[in-house]
Amino acid sequence: GQKAGPQWNISGDPCTGAAIDNTNIDNNDIFKAAIKCEVCTGGNTSVCRITRLKIYALDAVGPIPEELRNLTALTDLDLGQNYLTGPLPSFIGELTDMKFMTFGINALSGPVPKELGNLKNLIKLGLGGNNFSGSLPSELGNLAKLEELYIDSSGLSGPLPSSLSQLTKMKKVWASDNDFTGQIPDYIGSWSSLTELRLQGNSFQGPIPATLSNLGQLASLVLRNCRISDKLVSIDFSKFTSLNLLDFSYNLLSGSIPSWAKNSQFVLPAGWGCLQRNTPCFLDSPKSSSFAVDSGKSIVGPDNSVYQPDRASLGAASLYVTGAPTWGVSNVGKFMDANNGSYIIHSPGQFLNTLDPELFQNARMSPSSLRYFGIGLENGNYTVTLLFAEFDFPDTQSWKSRGRRVFDIYVQGERKEQNFDIRKAAGGKSFTAVRKQYTVPVTKNFLDIHLFWAGKGTCCIPTQGYYGPAISALSATPSTNQFTYNHTFHISNK
Ligand SMILES: *[C@@H]1O[C@H](CO)[C@@H](O)[C@H](O)[C@H]1NC(C)=O
Ligand SMILES: *[C@@H]1O[C@H](CO)[C@@H](O)[C@H](O)[C@H]1NC(C)=O
Ligand SMILES: *[C@@H]1O[C@H](CO)[C@@H](O)[C@H](O)[C@H]1NC(C)=O
Ligand SMILES: *[C@@H]1O[C@H](CO)[C@@H](O)[C@H](O)[C@H]1NC(C)=O
Repeated sequence: GQKAGPQWNISGDPCTGAAIDNTNIDNNDIFKAAIKCEVCTGGNTSVCRITRLKIYALDAVGPIPEELRNLTALTDLDLGQNYLTGPLPSFIGELTDMKFMTFGINALSGPVPKELGNLKNLIKLGLGGNNFSGSLPSELGNLAKLEELYIDSSGLSGPLPSSLSQLTKMKKVWASDNDFTGQIPDYIGSWSSLTELRLQGNSFQGPIPATLSNLGQLASLVLRNCRISDKLVSIDFSKFTSLNLLDFSYNLLSGSIPSWAKNSQFVLPAGWGCLQRNTPCFLDSPKSSSFAVDSGKSIVGPDNSVYQPDRASLGAASLYVTGAPTWGVSNVGKFMDANNGSYIIHSPGQFLNTLDPELFQNARMSPSSLRYFGIGLENGNYTVTLLFAEFDFPDTQSWKSRGRRVFDIYVQGERKEQNFDIRKAAGGKSFTAVRKQYTVPVTKNFLDIHLFWAGKGTCCIPTQGYYGPAISALSATPSTNQFTYNHTFHISNK
């Protein structure tokens, strides 16, 4: 479905011009669709074979075409970031010259074909951001030259096959946001060239393999929310000179923080004292009975409630507390792969399912843990209203529509939503307001609303570091049911 640009020879031999000269087709927007051919010899009778085919980030729609089968000299196939549907055909396993192959961020479904195990020259394989089913075929263990495997957010489940122990050249493995089960295999410790390992948001169990201590080249290790139970001290990471990211958070680890991790000094910012659950400010001297916050603007809401702007400039570990009515917000976490991660996102678009679209134009986003606090509230039951709308995942047949934001919601420490997906809650639509309401007790003049990323959802759609909880606005008001109840109570008393 793609038309060739003027750079290409479509009237004659396509293996001419940019296809055979030294034009660089990588990282070049003019060459999102491109081919490269082997050097053709033999004059008019020669057959030139295509060695590289790239249809990248063009939203090509439809199944992977059967014609691909004939490109037997392909060494590099990049069909990433389109909207390819249907199965990954097993004939791909016939293209045995293949070295670099990616189908990342499409809408492919069905099993990962075991025939991929025939691609013995494969160095890089990208299958992430699709909707496959079933487990990884054990035949992938035959890909002895494989150095990079991207299978994050790909719909896969089950244990990692033991045959993967043979992939000793492995450097990067992204496998987050699947439903992989079983133990994190010991053999990962024998992938001695490994620099990046991302396993967050799976259902692994049991200990962290002690063999990980062998991975001296590791730069980035993310095992958060993997249900790992272990003593953190059992692995000594101090000898890992390249390590710049280590995230074991939200597992079932025990013991004390090992000495190699204790070098940092912490300085707590002002307002911190008010955010401790057991020592809130204004305990027994409440100052207000409601508050409302919008991520960005000062807005008068539907019920004349004034939404105060949350314009706090929050970074990787910061908080903000404001006065009368007193509320606070805190963020913990740094966006992976995004140097300047965006903590406030914005869209001027039209929002459906609301009379106050302005409330939804900004949202606060967090890479890990985002908390809002009501401080110095009258005790009693409150209705907490959380407002959400997704806007960077379009509802068209685009690779960008494959983005999924998934997080958990806790109010007063109780989990109200697990794997909450704003767009799903809006019937699969972006630019559509979603309202979540909970009635919760405030007993110590303190309200805690916690939005938490448990490693689920896509990591990098539409940009690197675009994931984690996001919220447009929120409010807390005394529960009306409570007043209705009191009112009725008074009348019946008379
Ligand atoms: C297109 O291919 C034909 C051969 O089929 C060749 O004669 C012609 O020069 C090519 N054009 C360009 C612009 O490379
Ligand atoms: C593949 O190539 C063969 C000849 O080698 C040809 O007969 C067949 O039509 C081609 N198939 C497709 C799908 O282009
Ligand atoms: C993924 O595939 C399942 C069937 O395996 C289907 O029910 C679901 O709708 C698909 N989801 C998306 C987002 O394509
Ligand atoms: C709050 O709600 C609970 C359950 O609905 C009720 O039992 C309790 O009496 C309410 N508390 C107040 C202070 O109204």
